[in-house]
Amino acid sequence: MQILASYNIKGGVGKTATSVNLAFQGAHEGARTLIWDLDPQGAATFYFRVRPKIKGGSRALLKGRHDLADLIKATDHENLDLLPSDFSYRTMDLLLDDTKKPNERLKLLLSPLAGEYDYVFLDCPPGLTLLSESIFEAANVLVVPVIPTSLSLRTLKQLVEFRRKKQLRNFKMLVFFPMTNP
Ligand SMILES: Nc1ncnc2c1ncn2[C@@H]1O[C@H](COP(=O)(O)OP(=O)(O)OP(=O)(O)O)[C@@H](O)[C@H]1O
Ligand SMILES: [Mg+2]
Repeated sequence: MQILASYNIKGGVGKTATSVNLAFQGAHEGARTLIWDLDPQGAATFYFRVRPKIKGGSRALLKGRHDLADLIKATDHENLDLLPSDFSYRTMDLLLDDTKKPNERLKLLLSPLAGEYDYVFLDCPPGLTLLSESIFEAANVLVVPVIPTSLSLRTLKQLVEFRRKKQLRNFKMLVFFPMTNP
């Protein structure tokens, strides 16, 4: 199971469009695919017409009160499942801060799904928070959409620097410009 996080510190750069389209393409080609909408905005959940609701909210999820598999919804597309967003994800960082080894939390929650899916796409909210660090620990690949503006390139440098300082070596980074014509 490959875990690909569509991530950027910056908002509005195409993270959701990237994860939704890559997940759809993977599923279309026959890969068992899950997309986990980690953003309280719930954009990916909206795109797939699923109700944004996790039983017990992010607290129950992070405390491991459910099997992740029980929270997963089917989409209208073959091979493509979705773990919907919940508005309580807005407090995810506070809750993570209250758990043991917060950085390892997402990885731990996803581990029982290893035999179920070929690809898991994480649609990440913007920011560089405790949740982001948990994402970095879980992901094999960070897909980083960037737009050609100084501020967007600046956040990319911040990410590269953060990765270097924290010696995060478990994920590759695929940086690309989705909103420009070649
Ligand atoms: N390749 C693209 N070409 C043109 N427009 C795009 C492309 N990708 C995304 N967009 C548009 O750009 C806007 C932002 O995209 P998107 O919601 O995917 O960004 P995001 O990084 O997920 O935002 P947020 O940080 O709010 O979650 C949307 O209106 C989307 O339709
Ligand atoms: Mg988004």
